[in-house]
Order: sequence, then C-alpha cells, then structure tokens
Amino acid sequence: MLVSAKEMLTKAKAEHYAVGQFNINNLEWTKAVLLTAQEQNSPVILGVSEGAGKYMGGFKTVSAMVTAMMDELKITVPVALHLDHGTYDGCYKCMEAGFSSIMFDGSHYPIDENVAKTTELVKVTSEKGLSLEAEVGSIGGEEDGVIGAGELADPKECKAIADLGVTMLAAGIGNIHGKYPENWAGLSFETLDAIQQLTGDMPLVLHGGTGIPEDMIKKAISLGVAKINVNTELQLSFAAATRKYIEEGKDLSGKGFDPRKLLAPGFEAMKATVKEKMELFGSAGRA
Ligand code: 13P
Repeated sequence: MLVSAKEMLTKAKAEHYAVGQFNINNLEWTKAVLLTAQEQNSPVILGVSEGAGKYMGGFKTVSAMVTAMMDELKITVPVALHLDHGTYDGCYKCMEAGFSSIMFDGSHYPIDENVAKTTELVKVTSEKGLSLEAEVGSIGGEEDGVIGAGELADPKECKAIADLGVTMLAAGIGNIHGKYPENWAGLSFETLDAIQQLTGDMPLVLHGGTGIPEDMIKKAISLGVAKINVNTELQLSFAAATRKYIEEGKDLSGKGFDPRKLLAPGFEAMKATVKEKMELFGSAGRA
C-alpha cells in the first residue's frame, strides 16, 4: 500500500539521513526502484513529473501500475507515489488518480499567490492524509519543460510557506536539474543553514540530486535536508549500459534483440545507481 511521505521524512529529519526520490519513466524504472528499495530495506519516494505521467499513459495508469507492482512483487517497505513539480491542476488530477504525495511548484508565482494556492492545497491534502511539498526559489535548469532560473530562496519566504503546514519544503540553494556545468558555484550552505534555522523541524528537499559531490550531499543532510531528488542520473546509467550492449553487437546475436534482454543491462545499471544513492543518503536499513 502506498503511504504519505510524512512519516518517513519526519523520521529521516530526526535521525539525520535522507530518503531518495527517484523519478520514474516506465515499467523498468518502477521495477528497478521498488526492488532495490526492498533489497536495501529503505523507504522510497517514486517521483512522477507531469511529462512522465503523460508519457506513461496518464496518472491513473501510473498509479495502477505502481500499486499492482508493489502487490505482485511483495514490496513491504514504505513507498510514496509523488507528483514532481506539479501544476495546480496536476495536483488535483494526481489526488484523484490515487497518488499519496504531491508537490505544488508555486515558485514561479508571486509569493502571495504561491501562499494562497499552497494554503488551499494544505487543507485538501491533509483532509485526504496525503503529503504536500512546496517550493520557494526556483531550482535551476530544465526538467520536463519546467524551467527555473536557479535563484537562492529567501529564508523568510521559506518560513512563511513552511508555517502554512506543508509536509516538506524544496528551496533553491544553487541546485540545478540535470548535469552541473563545469563552472557551478556549488550549493549555498549559508542559505540552507538560514532556511533550516527559521523552519526548524520541517524536512527540506534537495532537488537536482544528480552529480552533487558526496561531501556536499552529506553536509546538506547535516543541515536539514531529508529528501533528495534524483532523476537524470538513472537516465544516464540506463543509457550508458544500453549503449554498451548495442555497441558490443549483443542485440544482433541470438535473441539479443528481445526487449527483456536488450533492456536488462540498463535495468541492472539503474538498480546499482539506486543502491549507491540509498547508501550515500543513509536510508538503507531504515524501513
Ligand atoms: P536531477 O535530474 O538533476 O537528478 O534532478 C531531479 C529532480 O530534482 C526532480 O525534481
């Protein structure tokens, strides 16, 4: 059964580790993340962007696939199915489709409008027992058409949004979706520290988990980050392993073209990446 992300993140924040949100794209992604979470005895969050939801045939398809797969594969660790960077309408669609957690990305609205829409969604999600993520200060780069300037969040605005009763808060601290450029200035720990001082127990969310060096991940966790989003890194692992298989001509020998064979190296590569992240984030063994 899917759970809200509230309990797993409250525990992670109190015990100083982070739960990974791994974005899914299809059946292979879903199975790789769920099986690895179970093997690692780790709580996990499956992230679904609006673009990925559409690609997979709609949010209802995703929700049905995930719940059925958890049942058939006997997944017993806590799993939240979470809308990533949701629009206002997308949030309602996902609630209707059976998601257990949603993110309302109001970062591109003026703060008053972000507050008004978030306030309404806090009420609706809490009535339904779902978790809600809000965002202040946009995450840099582009993810599925959501483009952010990458500004640093204003800690006072973070406090204003946290006080509305959201479950977790994503704040821009110099993080970027996708690969980091060579000249990236790194995470702003000063900003993170100031946000944490004002928001107290609120689990903070670090987007753009791909390519952040290990020491920065650990420091971010020590400053209150309890959820880390990883998307691009699984795509890169999958693509590299699939490219190797094809470049070695394995799809041309015997029945190597069978999708169950062709997609297997990419699937295993994603599992290895998820395992590595769960160990780094400290969520392994915490289910
Ligand atoms: P990356 O694609 O950089 O890992 O970012 C993932 C993310 O933040 C999802 O919202």
